[in-house]
Amino acid sequence: MIFETHAHYDDEAFDEDREKLLETMHAHGIEKIINVGASLQGVRDTVALTEKYPFVYGAVGIHPDEVGNLTEEDMKELRSYCDREKIAAIGEIGLDYYWDKENHEIQKKWFVRQMDLAKETGLPIIVHSRDAAKDTLDIMKAERADHLRGVIHCYSYSKEHAREYMNMGYYLGVGGVVTFKNGKRLKEVVEYAPLDYLLLETDAPYLAPEPYRGKRNCSLYLTYVAQTIARIKGVPYETVVETTRKNAEKLFKI
Ligand code: NI
Repeated sequence: MIFETHAHYDDEAFDEDREKLLETMHAHGIEKIINVGASLQGVRDTVALTEKYPFVYGAVGIHPDEVGNLTEEDMKELRSYCDREKIAAIGEIGLDYYWDKENHEIQKKWFVRQMDLAKETGLPIIVHSRDAAKDTLDIMKAERADHLRGVIHCYSYSKEHAREYMNMGYYLGVGGVVTFKNGKRLKEVVEYAPLDYLLLETDAPYLAPEPYRGKRNCSLYLTYVAQTIARIKGVPYETVVETTRKNAEKLFKI
């Protein structure tokens, strides 16, 4: 069964049918889901989802687009959720120079601060990095992130960077983009990286794979992602599903 490592079911895109949709997951082969917090309210909603659904686990963290008004009080609140049994990671945290909503120094400050939270709690990190390849790697090296565990979510950089992250012990999150016609660079990374370093993820409601590109994404569509990875690597579909599931269970300890 599939382990979905990155979804946002707290998003308002699911307000109409969240419960109905989540209840169908198991019957369709989705075994476990990590719901990833992006804002403080998103983190609170994530914790609530983990309480409601036995197969939903949570990551607590603030996305770089949302760090503008963060305070140390907020960090205390994040910290307070970390000891819960179903909180499996700190994330998503990182740098986003594509939307570029917050000053780079502020983004860096809270990326480092939230990595500290991971060091303190022993939880792995879920890293969001967009158009910020060099700064992300530089900061992670400077902060000795090789002593942490984690995943580079929605991996979008080069093979060379992928090698650097794998050398640090990090996994690469692969989602809908791998099915896109213009997803050539990611296809090359998937071909290059051992299956033991890949995780399946949607980033739902965003980044739906073909043939649903542009529509609302959900974990049920991970079958298309797994099929594409199987084709690229020339291995059976089941091997992709089982190996990525084991990778996720190992990383998140669930
Ligand atoms: Ni996300």
